[in-house]
Amino acid sequence: MTEAALRVRGVSIAFGGVSALDSVDVDFPEGEITGIIGPNGAGKTTLLNVVCGMNPPDAGDVLLEDRSITGLKPNRIAALGLRRTFQSSQLFAGMTVLENMMAGLHLMSTTGLVGAVLRSKRMREEEEEMRERALTALDFVGFRHFANRAGDALSFGQQRIIEIARTLIHEPKVVLLDEPAVGLSVNRVAELDALLRRIRDERGVTLVMIEHVIRLVMGVSDRVVVLNSGRKIAEGLPETVRSDPAVAEAYLGHQAEG
Ligand SMILES: Nc1ncnc2c1ncn2[C@@H]1O[C@H](COP(=O)(O)OP(=O)(O)O)[C@@H](O)[C@H]1O
Ligand SMILES: [Mg+2]
Repeated sequence: MTEAALRVRGVSIAFGGVSALDSVDVDFPEGEITGIIGPNGAGKTTLLNVVCGMNPPDAGDVLLEDRSITGLKPNRIAALGLRRTFQSSQLFAGMTVLENMMAGLHLMSTTGLVGAVLRSKRMREEEEEMRERALTALDFVGFRHFANRAGDALSFGQQRIIEIARTLIHEPKVVLLDEPAVGLSVNRVAELDALLRRIRDERGVTLVMIEHVIRLVMGVSDRVVVLNSGRKIAEGLPETVRSDPAVAEAYLGHQAEG
């Protein structure tokens, strides 16, 4: 059996008394793509928010490579090798693509007397290293030629790819993607499918993807997990999940989304 890179154990969380996740257990096998599907309001984004530390759970545990990360701050979890993208985020207009890639990276801070002397040199070195890594990540997604373009000169679909490239800068173990195919044309979805496979196969990254585009999620995922009303109702191979009557029932009335 494949080792799990990420484990969610008995996770529950409620907002204002309303349960968003109820005792959810999921293992995310290392080096695989796990798709998470479910109707609107099922708890998919909340699950990602819990895993990345934005919403500490009321109960349960999250383990990254068998180490509990429950309750750690998002920055700390990111530094341990878990990165994410956000639903419908956009690049900053006044910055180049490369600057966007590097924005918000937590550059090392050296403190103290010796630090004050070393700071500028080390920060310059570190910034240079981050620039190189960012360019390598842009290269990986085939967008190196966009490095010095204005962020908002890129199409919405291209910006989504940049957002994914950004997660690769620090050679993450796990990347969480929240609806990466939203608003993409059919051709762009095919490119995204190929890119996700390359991130898995060439980078060995464990991917967790929430996705409404069923064609993408069923095609690219090694395993699929189905949430409905905060509970896991099915999981398994895409074809198994696809033919599960409980899944069809959960989606009744939500056909327009798929
Ligand atoms: N920060 C929050 N405050 C209040 N309710 C929230 C919050 N985040 C999520 N919820 C609620 O939790 C449920 C699950 O939401 P969400 O995880 O966004 O679903 P999905 O991503 O599957 O559409 C919904 O009922 C939603 O309204
Ligand atoms: Mg969502």
